[in-house]
Amino acid sequence: MAISIKTPAEIQKMRVVGSLAAEVLDIVEPHIKSGITTAELDRICYTHIIYEQKAIPACLGYNGFPKSVCISVNDVVCHGIPSDKQVLKDGDIVNIDVTVIKDGFHGDTSKMFFLGRPTILGNHLCHTTQQSLYRAIKMVKPGLDLHHLGKEIQTFVEIEKFSVVREYCGHGIGTKFHEAPQVLHHATDNAAGITLQEGMAFTIEPMVNAGNDCIYTLKDGWTVKTRDRSLSAQYEHTILVTNKGCEIMTWRKDDTIPKIIMHTR
Ligand code: MF3
Ligand code: CO
Ligand code: CO
Repeated sequence: MAISIKTPAEIQKMRVVGSLAAEVLDIVEPHIKSGITTAELDRICYTHIIYEQKAIPACLGYNGFPKSVCISVNDVVCHGIPSDKQVLKDGDIVNIDVTVIKDGFHGDTSKMFFLGRPTILGNHLCHTTQQSLYRAIKMVKPGLDLHHLGKEIQTFVEIEKFSVVREYCGHGIGTKFHEAPQVLHHATDNAAGITLQEGMAFTIEPMVNAGNDCIYTLKDGWTVKTRDRSLSAQYEHTILVTNKGCEIMTWRKDDTIPKIIMHTR
């Protein structure tokens, strides 16, 4: 499938929906305390998206997914299903992945939260994962071959002796949740040869395991876990390619990277 190029009017819609998705992570944050269930966090996100943002939680019903956001705790790599039975406790590391639809466009973003004091390992894993995302974002500009991003992420993660999950990737995004191109988080020799152009929008969303990269899906058909039960972390942003670099559509105030990145040459 061809990669869509967003018009200025569409870019404005991507900006709006991107900031809505980012806002959901901000509003849920104060509720993430030991004793709360992941289903309660899901309801907080759902209520905010529907009644405050007058928007649509894209995950709800997507390929049959039963909840509004994905919540992935500790050794869950991605697609964790919020549950009334899952009570969060101090020491947990938690990813909340939010995708919002507004005015026909999607914004997709996730970050890690810590309950109580993070362990040294949990903290380092999350920090490394976020930095790998930032390193890739900083490379995005027209003319860049997409496969450079995966190489950058993998190299950075493996220096820290962590591993990159291969089975899931970032994706083009716009009127569809998942569109072309695929954005791999690891190096490949058969690179698709996709060159970035101004107006393309896609996510980068590396999943990084503290142990090896082997994963499996639970019988619920969704929850993905590390085989070796090691911790896993993920950060995701929706990115727009601009004329000189990129703009982070889902940027939040706690991001330690600028929202707009301009390369001078
Ligand atoms: N938000 C995920 C992504 O980053 C997709 C979740 S699909 C769901 O692409 F069905 F699990 F919600
Ligand atoms: Co995504
Ligand atoms: Co997502």
